[in-house]
Amino acid sequence: MGLLENKTALISGAARGIGRAIAEALATEGADLILCDLKAEWLEDTAAAVTALGRKVVCVSADVSNGEQVTAAVKQGVEEFGRIDVLVNNAGITKDGLMMRMSEEDWDAVLSINLKGTFLLTKAVSRIMMKQRSGAIVNIASIIGLIGNAGQCNYAASKAGVIALTKSTAKELAGRNIRVNAIAPGFIESKMTEVLPEAVREKMLDAIPMKRFGLAEDIAKVTAFLAGENSGYITGQVLTVSGGMVM
Ligand SMILES: NC(=O)c1ccc[n+]([C@@H]2O[C@H](COP(=O)([O-])OP(=O)(O)OC[C@H]3O[C@@H](n4cnc5c(N)ncnc54)[C@H](O)[C@@H]3O)[C@@H](O)[C@H]2O)c1
Repeated sequence: MGLLENKTALISGAARGIGRAIAEALATEGADLILCDLKAEWLEDTAAAVTALGRKVVCVSADVSNGEQVTAAVKQGVEEFGRIDVLVNNAGITKDGLMMRMSEEDWDAVLSINLKGTFLLTKAVSRIMMKQRSGAIVNIASIIGLIGNAGQCNYAASKAGVIALTKSTAKELAGRNIRVNAIAPGFIESKMTEVLPEAVREKMLDAIPMKRFGLAEDIAKVTAFLAGENSGYITGQVLTVSGGMVM
């Protein structure tokens, strides 16, 4: 029996990358899924993979930074499955640039999606979890939220905010049997890293003690652990998954 048998999980940003890998990992553990992304049709491939694993799936569209859309998406998911046991706040963006050159728009966009989006989904879903008196929330932060990065002050601030939001909501919701944890991924192999020049990749690898980039599946497996009862006494924690890059 899987870790998440008879559970329903909502995953934001599930169309591709880490979100898609999380969808497959949670479905493998037996969860039915509410997949969320900016456009529901982008979720077709993820939904097909989940269905092939024998799980039920509903695809909802929402911009996580828009409160009305988030409320409507959560309502749609609950109408389908009747409950939400797990929330994974994964949707996130970057708009990099040095602080002195960063526009107000790029600051606002990253903070709105990464931080406010996590707040809005947490608020909407924890209302349901509070009634159920159980739930697990996993927020995808970043090592950049722990150590900072030149050229990513908006992203770093958003992810540091996600970490602080995780700890605060963990304290608020623990009494209702709702656990809230964060994962801080390091450098994860993605479309972005594929195109980096070999010299840049090698320099980055030098900073990783385990001498490999992470895979989306590395984050997905830890998400499944934090979503299920094997982590039943863990809340308010930030688990760094970076091959030892950040200790
Ligand atoms: N890739 C990495 O190396 C890495 C490292 C650390 C943390 N992360 C974090 O992991 C998460 C996933 O990253 P990824 O690399 O898979 O990114 P990605 O760009 O491949 O996927 C992000 C998904 O989020 C969706 N999305 C974007 N804005 C949205 C919005 N406003 N509302 C709803 N959905 C939205 C996108 O459509 C996409 O499907 C992000 O929070 C990211 O910050 C990634």
